[in-house]
Amino acid sequence: MDTAIDLLSSWMNDARSAVFFGGAGVSTASGIPDFRSAAGLYVTAAGNGREPEYLLSHECLIAEPAEFFTFHRTHLVHPEAKPNRAHLALARLEDSGHLAAVVTQNIDGLHQAAGSRTVHELHGSVERNHCVQCGRAIDLADIPDEPVIPVCPDCGGMVRPDVVLYGEGLDEQVIDASIRAIQQADVLIVGGTSLNVYPAAGLIRYYRGHRLVLINLTETPADKGADLVIHSPIDEVLDTVVQRNCDTTPR
Ligand code: OAD
Repeated sequence: MDTAIDLLSSWMNDARSAVFFGGAGVSTASGIPDFRSAAGLYVTAAGNGREPEYLLSHECLIAEPAEFFTFHRTHLVHPEAKPNRAHLALARLEDSGHLAAVVTQNIDGLHQAAGSRTVHELHGSVERNHCVQCGRAIDLADIPDEPVIPVCPDCGGMVRPDVVLYGEGLDEQVIDASIRAIQQADVLIVGGTSLNVYPAAGLIRYYRGHRLVLINLTETPADKGADLVIHSPIDEVLDTVVQRNCDTTPR
């Protein structure tokens, strides 16, 4: 693994427009479970006759909003979570001019909390919410614990998170910005994602370079096409990358 990390460090040192494409595995070291691992949400929160995919769907939001919001608040909102070494390393790489953007499937806001500025959130963010009736934007911090189904202080409409639910489309501007960043990337690091969920996972195909790096605990469908594969904890790997050989002096 040392040689692989040394190679990645030197690639990142040379990089001027690298992009990081990530998923839930980036935040597991912050105490937020991923979806498909043994300790993931789709395993631990399954049961009660309801699939997590259903509880994360537009259909559930409309048909059973109380169920939806109970699941959402219990499993997807983590106000106590702090950025880990992976988030912090990526913010340093951006600050020092090596990394152009983070494209993430995560909805936890931890990249921004770490200091990353260019973050394309393919699946939205739990931090942002809006009233489905009047459109008023409401921050997560301003939503009280009760009632279970959040209510707009202006019009009494339901307040929902700005996250992409199953059955809903991704924001086209976010997709376009992500594709542009990936097309222009000199290095593409894909990490902490099983690459199971489309269209997000398909965006890495827009990469045109020859420095495609996969960092994941387990094998992914993109490993065989990658130029470098590291099966280790991503927080450990990215932290080592910024400590070693890579000049992260802010520019
Ligand atoms: P998954 O749970 O499918 O995949 C997470 C991957 O991260 C797994 O392959 C783990 O092995 C790996 N992993 C976990 N911890 C890690 C660590 N510390 N270091 C390195 N790798 C680690 O999560 P995503 O791929 O993000 O969508 O899932 C994609 C989408 O599925 C989510 O955005 C969500 C979900 O349904 C929506 O809710 C729309």
